[in-house]
Amino acid sequence: MKRYTLLLTVLMIGGGFEVYGGPGSTSGDTDAKIKTKVEELLAKMTLEEKIGQLTQVGGVQFGPNMPKPEDVIKQGQAGSVLWVNDPVTINRLQKIAVEQTRLHIPVIFGLDVIHGFHTIYPMPLALAASWDPALMERMDGIAAREARAAGITWTFAPMVDIARDPRWGRIVEGAGEDPFLGAAMARAQVRGFQGDDVSQPDRVLACAKHFAAYGAATGGRDYDSSYVPESELFNVYLPPFHAALEAGVATFMSAYMDLNDVPATGNSFLLRDVLRKTWNFQGFVVSDAFAVKDLTTHGFARDASDAAYKAFTAGVDMDMASGTYRDHLAQYVKSGRIPETMIDDAVRPILAAKFRLGLFEHPYADESRAKTLDADPENRKAAREAAQQSAVLLRNEGDLLPLAKNAGKSIAVIGPLGDSKRDMLSMWAGFGQDGSTSITVLEGIRNKLGAGAHVEYAPGVEIRKRYPSMFEGMMGAKPAPPWTEAQARDEFQKAVGLAKRSDIVVLALGEKALMSGEAATQSSLELPGKQQELMEAVAATGKPVVLVLVSGRPLDIEWASEHVPAIVEAWHPGMEGGNAIADLLFGDANFSAKLPVTWPRNVGQVPIYYAHNLTHQPETAASFKSRFWDEPSAPLYPFGYGLSYTKFTISNLHVNRDAVKLGETVEVTVDAKNSGKRSGAEVVQLYIHQKSGGASRPVRELKGFEKVALAPGETKTLRFQLSPNELRYWNSTSRGWVEDASDFDLWAGSDSRASLHANFKVE
Ligand code: NOJ
Repeated sequence: MKRYTLLLTVLMIGGGFEVYGGPGSTSGDTDAKIKTKVEELLAKMTLEEKIGQLTQVGGVQFGPNMPKPEDVIKQGQAGSVLWVNDPVTINRLQKIAVEQTRLHIPVIFGLDVIHGFHTIYPMPLALAASWDPALMERMDGIAAREARAAGITWTFAPMVDIARDPRWGRIVEGAGEDPFLGAAMARAQVRGFQGDDVSQPDRVLACAKHFAAYGAATGGRDYDSSYVPESELFNVYLPPFHAALEAGVATFMSAYMDLNDVPATGNSFLLRDVLRKTWNFQGFVVSDAFAVKDLTTHGFARDASDAAYKAFTAGVDMDMASGTYRDHLAQYVKSGRIPETMIDDAVRPILAAKFRLGLFEHPYADESRAKTLDADPENRKAAREAAQQSAVLLRNEGDLLPLAKNAGKSIAVIGPLGDSKRDMLSMWAGFGQDGSTSITVLEGIRNKLGAGAHVEYAPGVEIRKRYPSMFEGMMGAKPAPPWTEAQARDEFQKAVGLAKRSDIVVLALGEKALMSGEAATQSSLELPGKQQELMEAVAATGKPVVLVLVSGRPLDIEWASEHVPAIVEAWHPGMEGGNAIADLLFGDANFSAKLPVTWPRNVGQVPIYYAHNLTHQPETAASFKSRFWDEPSAPLYPFGYGLSYTKFTISNLHVNRDAVKLGETVEVTVDAKNSGKRSGAEVVQLYIHQKSGGASRPVRELKGFEKVALAPGETKTLRFQLSPNELRYWNSTSRGWVEDASDFDLWAGSDSRASLHANFKVE
């Protein structure tokens, strides 16, 4: 077997950044000018002022021991402020930094702008379901503009953690299970937030988080340890981070969990060996909130002082909220254990980011501009389009959808998510939005059908978290008191009665916003509360039912997949979600989204992902199959799956050469035809399988995709390239990137089960 091994250092280095090029921008100042300014400023700074730059102070006091941000800023002890979202407070705090500190260095205001700031669009997993990186970029551009107008100059996004376990609540924040799709979305998000020039009034610094393998938390329990072998780390978990880096992401955030027993926030393998030495990252690394101090809780650091030492020397430049650097770093410099040059190296990219942002010239938010941007109807229009592009049609038996806009028919909207404004948004929206202007499913349908239409609503059941979310109150109102038993019975019956006297039922079920996101692991994927009973009772009325799922993760809908004729995964679709869903249900828009995650039948199949290895006895073997023996091993819906109101035919899969040499590129063409009667867009997906080599490779791996809009009857030829970048992988024996000589299978189609096949060979 021939093998083509390239050194990790050669292949994994990013885009050749200048020394101060972290934020990936081309602001008015050149890199050389910024470098000079940084050095001049640094030369004037005392050790305490430098450590101040390495400190991000909480703008919200979570506990009695947290200092007031104004006090910390006044002492020149804050480089950045966290969790402030209104321009008035931002300007007040910035004024202290600019006018009352010795060197007048402005602070960076950082916030979780995850799927919009004021205009909330679909949550990241939903936008990933659009399979349209340009859309992702456009939406994050809107978020950046609104946030920057309010004085926020740094978002803690994108979250590029691969997630293969839907129990993990943070699956909602990323692009799903696949490194190739994840990398494409990571690049798009960085471009969307940062643009070409972060000094522009519509751009913010981005932050690739959480470095790294946070999504591999054992049992899907948020914060629990990840155990990830090196090959999986390099082949699956790191590619989206590397893609963010190549796109010029300004900052990285270290993760909370232990990676192979070493906390990510004190992990020099991740932060120095991979990120700095191998990838040549030139921006700065911030810890996750309180993560530096929490190194003591992990049983990793002896005390807070040791935590500061371990995090800093491992490569965390900025301490988010724990105050540990502020209290302890100086003593290490004074005793000689940390050279001051190391402190300088951490301060430089932070100052450089401030120069790049143009903060020294324009430190303040324009309060009036912030207001006009919030009211921009174009942003809501974009949010509606994004929600149309993100909702996945999972089932449509007998073409129940689209529904006719026949005002004579009566429609029942039933379910606890049918008219719940806050739940149209995911958890993180709470920093800029309370949900009061969200359009619910009920409102969307009423808007669509007009005043004369007969549309009634009944919640039927309520959904409650068993353990209250730590974000309750902070990210949305506290839940209302629970229903009494009599009330619950009454509401259930009312809903079933409504279904009986209506012509069509739109059943809106799923999860509340705070059931996914941070600290929101679920042990079960079943519909929470009594939603399953409600669904079965409504279906038993015999009325045509459309199930609209509002959720942050795939749920166990095996029963529905057999008994409910139409199923739509709307996710948390954002503030225009209700209008977008109505557009789709009534055919004013066509479905085009595809699952960015494999949809399990039930929680027992988890973790589940399509790109698994074949094993010695695949499910296709004659006996001793690798499978579940009590149910199908296949998921309920495969990765990449999603229906449309039209039909597509994928054909003519060709490779330009049957055999290429190691290091050469294979050109692939394939035709996509809209063979149905409506306009629509198809996501054409390209998968490969390496048949032999230095390692077992996944049964299929996504290596190309394109979303293409087609009028009825129209055909387009799509072109893909399979270069060594797509064909190589990290080999755990040689501990490097390799491209093997091998035969390859190639498939093109509409989801990860695509059957249109071709071969090629790498010699
Ligand atoms: C904790 C979360 O893990 C992280 O994603 C977030 O950016 C920070 N808190 C700041 O809110």
